[in-house]
Amino acid sequence: MPELVRYTVQDDVAIVTIDNPPVNALSPGVPEGIDAGVARAAADRAVKAVVLIGAGSTFIAGADIKVFGTIPNRDVSVDRSHRVHALLRRIEDCPKPVVCAIHGTALGGGLEFAMACHYRVAVPGAKVGQPEVLLGIIPGAGGTQRLPRLCGVATAVELCTLGQHIGAKRALAEGIVDHIVEGDLLAGAIAFALAKAAAGEVRKVREQEAKIADYGVAAAAIEAARASLKKTARGAHAPFAAIDAIAAGVQGGFDAGSAREIEIFADCVLSAESRNLIRLFFAEREAAKVPGVPKETATLEIRTAAVVGAGTMGGGIAMNYANAGIPVLLKESDQAALDRGLATIRKNYDNSAAKGKMTPEQVERVMSLIHPALTYEGFDQVDIVVEAVFENLDLKKSVFADLGRVTKPDCILASNTSTLDIDQFAHSSGRPASVIGHHFFSPANVMKLMEIVRGRESSNQTIATSLKLSKKLNKVGVVVGNCFGFVANRMLAYYMREAYLLLEEGASVPQIDKVMTGFGMPVGPFGMQDIAGIDVGARIRQYLRTIGATRAEGPESPVPDWLYEMGRYGQKTGAGWYRYEAGSRTPIPDPLIEELALKAAAERGIDRQPVADDEILSRIMVALANEGANVLEEHIAIRAGDIDVIYAYGFGYPRHRGGPMAYADSLGLTQVLAKVSEYRARLGDHWRPAPLLDRLAAEGNSFYGE
Ligand code: 3HC
Ligand code: NAI
Repeated sequence: MPELVRYTVQDDVAIVTIDNPPVNALSPGVPEGIDAGVARAAADRAVKAVVLIGAGSTFIAGADIKVFGTIPNRDVSVDRSHRVHALLRRIEDCPKPVVCAIHGTALGGGLEFAMACHYRVAVPGAKVGQPEVLLGIIPGAGGTQRLPRLCGVATAVELCTLGQHIGAKRALAEGIVDHIVEGDLLAGAIAFALAKAAAGEVRKVREQEAKIADYGVAAAAIEAARASLKKTARGAHAPFAAIDAIAAGVQGGFDAGSAREIEIFADCVLSAESRNLIRLFFAEREAAKVPGVPKETATLEIRTAAVVGAGTMGGGIAMNYANAGIPVLLKESDQAALDRGLATIRKNYDNSAAKGKMTPEQVERVMSLIHPALTYEGFDQVDIVVEAVFENLDLKKSVFADLGRVTKPDCILASNTSTLDIDQFAHSSGRPASVIGHHFFSPANVMKLMEIVRGRESSNQTIATSLKLSKKLNKVGVVVGNCFGFVANRMLAYYMREAYLLLEEGASVPQIDKVMTGFGMPVGPFGMQDIAGIDVGARIRQYLRTIGATRAEGPESPVPDWLYEMGRYGQKTGAGWYRYEAGSRTPIPDPLIEELALKAAAERGIDRQPVADDEILSRIMVALANEGANVLEEHIAIRAGDIDVIYAYGFGYPRHRGGPMAYADSLGLTQVLAKVSEYRARLGDHWRPAPLLDRLAAEGNSFYGE
């Protein structure tokens, strides 16, 4: 078995190298190896100092996340944590300077090991962070205690509650890192360590009190963070727990704080929130693996791109390419539309600059990568084209026919269609192997999801290239099958159907939205539609009627179409399911909706009655999971985890609840099936249990098969 931690000596400095690919996680054997290495260095008379460094592409990316699932109970968690805390104290108590050398990322337990060292040096591209809350836990190896002692309470609270990584430059400014090494990291770390040894300096972070000494400042930062989290946490518990552990150390000192951290960590690691978030972490990585598309599939290099259509989506997609440094041609059908599209892009970038997220130079650089076009000139040079014209089958088919002619033979031809049949575009292009769906979500430059829609003839190379490209574009790519609406929108139709029907039965628009935001959705179904545009769904329904289809089985509420006919498209027209004052996005309930709901209810012979919040949540969630089961059965989604990743990144489904399929599993599929049967008896035959749900419930199984 390869050695997880190596010990060598160079220039009188012991080098303890962690070598546990791919990310040097703290798997069993790694902490023990570091402990032994530091102890050996302390005893080695030929050694003046110690450098702790990672082999490969990164320092330690954290605890081994797989291990959390093996913690059977609280006592085991507490016992393990005590041992890790003691180990880190031994490192900190080493009489010789211990310098941590960081490249890649020092995350979670990785940063905690780094902070147990006396000093930290890093390359300019290194990142550090305490992302534990994103896994439903808190830093469990002293991070909530040592971090505030290095950077103060406000920054520690920020890092531990948001889970974001920060770069070496900020880490230096905050006091987390002591020195940036511009050249060779190991050589720089050795030189730094020897200088500290010569000066006889070791600095134990646990003894540093200066940055937390002002109790008033610390308490204010803690209270401000708690207040802000109340607005943003959407029901997640871990960020509050992280603050509690930090507060305990600020008030009671390092030892009391550490003891509290250990207890809180144990509660978190055994919680449903943590189980859901960890499942989602691995589901996201699993989504990058597509059965039948081998890992070693050769991919095409995407150096240049083109986008057809500079509307809402095309503009955002072009920004994604420019942000990734890929030059992109942006084609429109006329100059006015092109000018409008470019002006919107410029406005978006200027807004980012105004918020300090970009410098004016960065804005100019990305703008210079977007090349406006009114013809296909230059399309013969690009490696990929993304089509984002109106959602119209004939128009898109004609665009694909053009693209098949004007692009080079191996150019990938992607469509951003949200519903239509990729295979028809593939056929029109004459090059079906290169055709695929790249379904971005609105706003395309912000939302992280990219549904990669696999056509019947999409080649492995086209799929593998799309997956690789999604990462480069800073998106999460999930490969899905080709059907009306694919995974995200096909399931959403059932979510929306239930919301409409609940409205007709007696629930109100604000009530339904409040139930769903109370559950953790960023916005309720009606508020979401006011943002996306009621016209978009209405046009899709119009198209479906021409082919005798509907979006979701069951009664189709006329209310959204009435709003469309009234020109109430949502926020963009100042009214939709809500009213909006000029220039404001605050939804104001509108009595008109009640009138329309009454009218629709009367047409269907429904006597409107108050609807309980529980019924709203259950109906909407069960509808979503039941259609999810159909999507799985038809292999439109490869795994339940893929659906949950899609909902987390496409619609902001609360991650701590795992996703619609994990949520159904948590209810128990027997219970979900019982609900479907109850609704069928009460509400009609459109509530048909998905065969997969039936089968899994009978087997006592779950969507995840855990
Ligand atoms: N434990 C176990 N496996 C891990 C891991 C970890 N901490 N981090 C990454 N991996 C695995 C991934 O599952 C993936 O495996 P696969 O190839 O079999 O699918 C592989 O490493 C590569 O990961 P990515 O595909 O994510 O690689 P990237 O280069 O895109 O990203 C990364 C690297 C930024 C390190 C990212 O993997 C990451 O964010 N990892 C999690 C970091 C984290 O949350 N650390 C805190 C852990 S909790 C902790 O430390 C508790 C402590 O306080 C006690
Ligand atoms: P949009 O109406 O804002 O933009 C479409 C643009 O395409 C217009 O600017 C139009 O002038 C241009 N266009 C039409 N024919 C063209 C041609 N032959 N050559 C060049 N440009 C042409 O529409 P939007 O919302 O951007 O939608 C585009 C596509 O993205 C549709 O397929 C839609 O279903 C899909 N989509 C939309 C989402 C949304 O929330 N708006 C979300 C995800 C996908």
